[in-house]
Amino acid sequence: MISSNEARELAVQFLAKVPKRLSHTESVATLAKKLAIHYHEDSEKALVASYLHDITKYYSKERALFLLSKYYSKAEIKMWPIQTWHGLTAEIYAKEHLLVDDFDTLNAIKYHTVGRPKMSLLEKIIYVSDYAEELRTFETKDIRELAFHDLDLAVYKVLVHVKNHLDLTNEKVVGLSIDAIKYYQNRFNGGI
Ligand SMILES: [Fe+2]
Ligand SMILES: [Fe+2]
Repeated sequence: MISSNEARELAVQFLAKVPKRLSHTESVATLAKKLAIHYHEDSEKALVASYLHDITKYYSKERALFLLSKYYSKAEIKMWPIQTWHGLTAEIYAKEHLLVDDFDTLNAIKYHTVGRPKMSLLEKIIYVSDYAEELRTFETKDIRELAFHDLDLAVYKVLVHVKNHLDLTNEKVVGLSIDAIKYYQNRFNGGI
């Protein structure tokens, strides 16, 4: 598996023309590392996933589709709105080109845009860090602080916030996100 320094170099290369996205990536890495240390997760994995999570965000639609069609059926691809493709393509890139074989790291990259039920600790760290990193233009301090006290509740709040925003703008909410919201609702009600 590549080191976090190598992953960072890649992020710098991929996002060289988009300084804002690179700053976001650095900021995700900073928060994810803190959360990983706080929750005794592998901070090296948290850094690798952070640096790689958005590297393919600026692929053309054609390039993304070409990659996706190697691994997913048309019906599967249809379930993912185009804005979420970059999680899938970054995971493919990490697998194919960087030989990342740690499933947890790959899943953290793949699902960072949508979440899913039963996320691993690393997945939750990356999911929340992507949303709540300090440079986001919307208010994230509360979620950031909550993440250190109750990571599950922070994940749930982000899932709901993102869903509400997508509903308002008439955008599609991925089934996995809705399933994740239900999963946490059940959990908080003592159902799981
Ligand atoms: Fe992303
Ligand atoms: Fe991101």
